Amino acid sequence: MACGAAPAAASGPRNPPRRFGSRPSLLPVALLSSLRRRLGHTRPAMQDWPGLIEGYRKWLPVSDKTPVITLHEGATPLIPAPVIAERIGKGVKVYLKYDGLNPTGSFKDRGMTMAISKAKEAGSEAVICASTGNTSAAAAAYARRGGMRAFVLIPDGYVAQGKLAQALLYGAEVLAVKGNFDRALAIVQEVANQYPITLVNSVNPFRLQGQKTAAFEVVDALGEAPDWLCIPVGNAGNISAYWMGFNEYKAAGHSRRLPRMMGFQAAGSAPLVLGHTVEQPDTIATAIRIGNPVNKERALKARAESNGDFMAVTDAEIIEAYKLLGSGEGVFCEPASAASVAGLLKRREEVPAGATVVCVLTGNGLKDPTTAIEHNDSKFHTGLEPDTATVARVMGF
Ligand SMILES: Cc1ncc(COP(=O)(O)O)c(C=O)c1O
Repeated sequence: MACGAAPAAASGPRNPPRRFGSRPSLLPVALLSSLRRRLGHTRPAMQDWPGLIEGYRKWLPVSDKTPVITLHEGATPLIPAPVIAERIGKGVKVYLKYDGLNPTGSFKDRGMTMAISKAKEAGSEAVICASTGNTSAAAAAYARRGGMRAFVLIPDGYVAQGKLAQALLYGAEVLAVKGNFDRALAIVQEVANQYPITLVNSVNPFRLQGQKTAAFEVVDALGEAPDWLCIPVGNAGNISAYWMGFNEYKAAGHSRRLPRMMGFQAAGSAPLVLGHTVEQPDTIATAIRIGNPVNKERALKARAESNGDFMAVTDAEIIEAYKLLGSGEGVFCEPASAASVAGLLKRREEVPAGATVVCVLTGNGLKDPTTAIEHNDSKFHTGLEPDTATVARVMGF
């Protein structure tokens, strides 16, 4: 099947993720476990999820010849966000699509299971990518799992510690270049053109194919597409993939409507908002520190077709949303991910009453401990004497 084409058989996933909108079971857990054991189910239900290629096989360009390289990515939770919803009011329902719970901690795993499986199918022995960090972690993990070498180019000094640690630990060969992401991407494209190595950035069409499954999961969970999808935008692959997924699912009758695609960029790196390339992109949200998005045309099409919009959010707004997500909702995402919530809060007046909004949280907060330690409102008492009286006094007793 051609990339991007809707599958012939338009049925649901073979093993759909849990429907978070469905009614929870009233049976006590112990009784359920006992019933499951008697019926021969010895493993918890979560283990039944086989990863997104098997879960959504009919929707993806794979065949029996494709070796499936998976870490059981996908099926991430759609978490209600009552504190954010309260700030918007008007009976608006807000959900967080927490893709930071993928195996390497970001949505990139969705695209990488596809890109690496297809590279393996084609006989490739090595892959290469440019990365602000998350792609390098995912490429390294999936390539090594598939028995391939992974080369990753990162902008020297602008990758969060957790992501660098991941790429190194997963066994990538890391090349830190004195330049930004856009320059690194131009280099890996040239290398992949000249040498026998597969490029796994989001110009690789299999990446977006895998990433579109997040839209399927949102519709599967809600039983309908949301009114708004708020999403951080860097290289603009993910917003394009979601739009493809929502369209394919609607065409097959799984939803009746399409969401407005609301893309948010960091103010210092907002080429799609400004309408021109940003030569020296800058933001605290290093994952979206990108000045020349390679999927620009696709993203502009998604905006036009969905009656959506792009908007810039400042670093201060990103950090405010980041802290609110952590201390208000108990959800730790990385700064770039919080751009989706910062954007929603900025556009709150325009959200229709009673609307359903999904904010995509693209990466896990643990990837960037430095930003979390530097930007929080918590009390951190250090150097205390190790006795009960001191601890109690500091606690206010
Ligand atoms: C955490 C995070 N959020 C958002 C993005 C932006 O995604 P895209 O480049 O597909 O627009 C990235 C890209 O690296 C990312 O790592």
